[in-house]
Amino acid sequence: MKMAMIVAMDEGGCIGNQGDLPWRLKADMVRFKALTEADGYNAVIMGRKTWDSLPDTFRPLPERVNIVMSRDTGWSHTEADVALYPGRAIEIAYAEACDECWVIGGAQIYAMFLNQVEEIHVTTVHTSGSGDVMFPEWDRSAWTETVVKNLEVDAENAYATTYSIWKKS
Ligand SMILES: NC(=O)c1ccc[n+]([C@@H]2O[C@H](COP(=O)([O-])OP(=O)(O)OC[C@H]3O[C@@H](n4cnc5c(N)ncnc54)[C@H](OP(=O)(O)O)[C@@H]3O)[C@@H](O)[C@H]2O)c1
Repeated sequence: MKMAMIVAMDEGGCIGNQGDLPWRLKADMVRFKALTEADGYNAVIMGRKTWDSLPDTFRPLPERVNIVMSRDTGWSHTEADVALYPGRAIEIAYAEACDECWVIGGAQIYAMFLNQVEEIHVTTVHTSGSGDVMFPEWDRSAWTETVVKNLEVDAENAYATTYSIWKKS
């Protein structure tokens, strides 16, 4: 099973603001859906706060096994699998026979899985100071970047973005 991470961050590493995404970028949302759904049977691992931030219409994220990390033994949802520790989240994805397992945030969950993924798909949003939640410390010297696409501002994307795939060197 492939383990990958996907994140959008501004030039200073900011990923969230007041419990939500700082920006609404159509192209990035379309890419997120295409990558995490793909053609296979995939899982997404997210923190309970990220789960709470999803709009009702996208919760659970369709066509994917939704694994939510919480330390609260009382937390449950009919449409999600709960994992009390990181190994349990991976175990659920294996037990579901998933082809790919995507770590989709937020900051606490990225920090936990940074050493367990083979690829990080990063959308860099060309702005700064976007909010109050930051991507964790990440030693990029151990990773190699391939820039896939640069997108300019347009009617559906308020900021220019660069989409890159980072692989462990
Ligand atoms: N830009 C992006 O790509 C992106 C992606 C995702 C999210 N975000 C943003 O990131 C922000 C949320 O990030 P966050 O770091 O505050 O929260 P988070 O990582 O989404 O969720 C944190 C929660 O995960 C659970 N948790 C943490 N460590 C755990 C562990 N070791 N074992 C079991 N459960 C554990 C806890 O849930 P309990 O409190 O229930 O115990 C904790 O409160 C939001 O603003 C969101 O919009 C951005």
